[in-house]
Amino acid sequence: MTLAGKAVLITGAGSGIGSATAVRAARRGAAVALVGRRAEALEHTAAQVREAVGEGSRVAVLAGDVGKAPEVERVVAAAAEHFGRIDGLVNNAGTARFSALEDARIDELDTMLDTHLRGPVLLIQACLPHLRRSGGSVVNVSSVGGVLSLPGRSLYGASKAALNHLTRSLARELAPAVRVNAVLPGPVETPMYDDLGLDADGVDELREGLLSATPMGRFGRPEEIAEWVCLLLDEESSAWVTGALLPVDGGRTA
Ligand SMILES: NC(=O)c1ccc[n+]([C@@H]2O[C@H](COP(=O)([O-])OP(=O)(O)OC[C@H]3O[C@@H](n4cnc5c(N)ncnc54)[C@H](OP(=O)(O)O)[C@@H]3O)[C@@H](O)[C@H]2O)c1
Repeated sequence: MTLAGKAVLITGAGSGIGSATAVRAARRGAAVALVGRRAEALEHTAAQVREAVGEGSRVAVLAGDVGKAPEVERVVAAAAEHFGRIDGLVNNAGTARFSALEDARIDELDTMLDTHLRGPVLLIQACLPHLRRSGGSVVNVSSVGGVLSLPGRSLYGASKAALNHLTRSLARELAPAVRVNAVLPGPVETPMYDDLGLDADGVDELREGLLSATPMGRFGRPEEIAEWVCLLLDEESSAWVTGALLPVDGGRTA
C-alpha cells in the first residue's frame, strides 16, 4: 500500500495502459481520478477498480479532453475537490497516426501535439499548486518512438520527443518540490493498434516489424508499464529520481 493516502489523476484512463495504471495505483492504496473523453470507458475502468479494491476504493470519473484548457481546469478542480488533494499526475492520454510525410495530414499532427504536449503542459500547470503542497510527482507516458528514428512514424515520434524534453526541463525547474519523470513503452498490447490510420495489412506489417525489433520477443502487457508508473509515483522507491526517461520496452532500445 505504498500509495496509501495519495490521490492520483490519470489521463487516458478508459483503456490500455491508463486503465491498468488506475487499477494498480488503487491496489497500492491511492484514490484515483480517471480522465478521458469517453465517460463510458472511464466508468468501465472505475468498475474494474472497485472490483479490484472493493469497498475501500476511492475513484472519480471526470470526462474531459486534455487538449482543451477549460476542460483541464474543470477536471483538475473537480479532482482536488473530490479528494482534497492531488499527489500524482499521470499524463498518459495518447493517440497515434502513422504515415509517410507525403501522406501525413497536418490536422493529425495538431491532434498528436495537443494530446502529447499541450495536454501535459495544461495539466501540469493546473495541478502544480496541489503537487507543490503535497511534494508530488508527475509521470508522463511517452514512447520509445520519441528517441528512435523511425521512417513513417516521424510526427508521432516528434510529439513524444517534445514530451521527453518537457519531462527533463521541468524536472530541473520544479525540483525539489515536484518530481517529473517519463516511462517510454515499447510495443504494448492495447487498443491503440485498432486506430492508427493504417489499413489492416499496414497494421499487420507494423506489428511484425515491432515484434522482430523487440529482443524479448513479445509485446508488453499494459500492467507491465503500469507497474513502473506506480514505482515512479511512489516516494519509497523514487524520491531521488527525477528527469528520468525510463524505457520499459522488452529491450527495444537496448
Ligand atoms: N500501446 C503501445 O504500443 C504504446 C507504445 C508506446 C507508447 N504508448 C503510449 O501509451 C499511452 C497510452 O496508450 P495505450 O497504448 O494504452 O492506448 P489506448 O488504449 O488507445 O489509450 C489511449 C487513451 O487516451 C485517451 N485519449 C486520447 N486522446 C485524448 C484526449 N484528447 N483527452 C483525453 N483523453 C484522450 C483515450 O480515451 P478517449 O478516446 O476516451 O479520450 C484512450 O483511453 C499513449 O500516450 C501512447 O502514446 C503506447
